Amino acid sequence: MLKPKVEKILVEQIQKEGYSSFLYLSMASWAESKGMAGVAQWLYAQAEEEKMHMLKFVEYINERNGRAIIPAIEKSPENWKDIFVLFDEVLAHEQYISASINDILALAVKENDYATQNWIQWFVTEQVEEESSVQTVIDKLNLIGKNNLYIFDRDIMNLRAAE
Ligand code: FEO
Repeated sequence: MLKPKVEKILVEQIQKEGYSSFLYLSMASWAESKGMAGVAQWLYAQAEEEKMHMLKFVEYINERNGRAIIPAIEKSPENWKDIFVLFDEVLAHEQYISASINDILALAVKENDYATQNWIQWFVTEQVEEESSVQTVIDKLNLIGKNNLYIFDRDIMNLRAAE
């Protein structure tokens, strides 16, 4: 049985993962409309990952006899100045998500919820991978530079979004 405080923070994370999915979907659609098929592919894959993360929270909360309330998702931005700005935003967003995963772990420790401490570890590891995978994209983007975005768009097709 989940303690109410733990249940509450887990339910809040459903919203954050759902928002992440829609944010990346919005970014993917923007990139596709700008002719950047590779960037769009990477972001669509990322949006799917986030949906999977959201479902993991839903399933875990219900498995522990909580109640996974499905939230409204606020509207994502729809335009970005360029893909440099866009990927900086992806990284900042993942850092924000990492902080909220850490908050869940800290609360589970405080509440002596050993099962949630154990379960959330998957996300702790996942966030390390997600931040690293976005940083790899940003590093490539900076190396290739603004005049070679076509090459970057081909190149990112070979990079997989974090799982
Ligand atoms: Fe589900 Fe990218 O954090």
